[in-house]
Amino acid sequence: MSKQNRENISCKKIVLGITGGIAAYKSAELVRLLVKANIDVQVVMTVAACEFITPITLQALSGKPVFIQMWDGSVGNGMPHIELSRDADAILIAPASANFLAKLVHGSADDLLSTLCLARDCPLLVAPAMNKQMWENAATQRNIAQLKADGITILGPATGEQACGEVGLGRMLESDELLAAINAHFTPQLLAGKRVLITAGATLEMIDPVRAITNLSSGKMGYALAQVAADMGAIVTLISGATALTPPASATNIVAISSDTMYQAVMSHIKNQDIFIAVAAVADYTPASPSTQKIKKSDHSNDNGTLSIQLTPTKDILKDVASLPNAPFCVGFAAESENLIAYASKKRIAKLLPLIIANQVQSAMGSDSNTVTLIDDVGTHPLPTASKTELAHGILNHIAAMF
Ligand code: CTP
Repeated sequence: MSKQNRENISCKKIVLGITGGIAAYKSAELVRLLVKANIDVQVVMTVAACEFITPITLQALSGKPVFIQMWDGSVGNGMPHIELSRDADAILIAPASANFLAKLVHGSADDLLSTLCLARDCPLLVAPAMNKQMWENAATQRNIAQLKADGITILGPATGEQACGEVGLGRMLESDELLAAINAHFTPQLLAGKRVLITAGATLEMIDPVRAITNLSSGKMGYALAQVAADMGAIVTLISGATALTPPASATNIVAISSDTMYQAVMSHIKNQDIFIAVAAVADYTPASPSTQKIKKSDHSNDNGTLSIQLTPTKDILKDVASLPNAPFCVGFAAESENLIAYASKKRIAKLLPLIIANQVQSAMGSDSNTVTLIDDVGTHPLPTASKTELAHGILNHIAAMF
């Protein structure tokens, strides 16, 4: 597929340049994450980088031979510096050493990686990694200012403990942060600066200290929406119930396990939000008086072996948010097992929502993909079956257009 036709992020190709620095060990994890995100990664290393991590490791993780030398006859036209950069949607240098930054500033072309950066016709992103004194040095700061002026994106560095034992600015960003930066780079900034609050996962309603009522929601759809909204430039707050997922690095993450704590968490963060997306499968009922002690079987020996738990309704978070004066743009999810469109449309009207996402519980719960239909004032808009990340793009594009 030609570069112009690779609109979808999962078809993107990047060159990952690795220069000499101890942070090169993190590049192995970065390659793994990029490949997992279906991004095609071609690794190019400097000779110094090979002192820190072997090309074989990166070949195994990227599934492609690693290029190091300028004079490599195995590349189609024998000119790897041209061929590799022409085919890439972006070049990411991670880690970028102080020396490599200086070379970029001066347009130096004395090895394959610096030459292909000079010959590129695609964006260049660099993730500096070095000792804090090297980072703070006036020469490095001049170089960074010049690279920014040249349109090069600087990612990080972060502050923290360094390999040399010193503490300060100069650590390379973590692999998941670099992946998020690459995703954001390839995603149109349709929600730039917008504040988006999302609930995700299942709630857990305690019966006694060891037992609870919950449901099968995995949190995957809510987490995908949080990640993609952040990639689109939104300032995302994610309120999670019970889920086994790792929260996205680019969101503010809050844990609220029960329907009541989730209600409180949403209400205390709702001010100034532009968009509220309620994806969490919130319990509609909770035990009326949860036992403070573990319920014993023997306590119910006179009830013919049965146990009744009285349930009381929970507060509807989405409905209450949508009813607020100056309510944000509210989006609901309707998981139904039958009469999908009819039930979801009714729910949209009852909860005062401009948009609801209807999905069949049988295909939605726990799965990595789903089939959804968006319902708004105009009508129904079915999206093709896709991964939850791809659906998140479709849903957020629709929200951005309506918003
Ligand atoms: N929701 C919520 N607070 C609740 C219950 C639901 O915020 N206490 C939100 C969900 O996050 C979802 C939407 O409301 O976006 C629809 O939830 P759903 O459980 O499908 O609908 P209910 O109104 O609970 O109706 P029913 O269970 O009868 O289908």
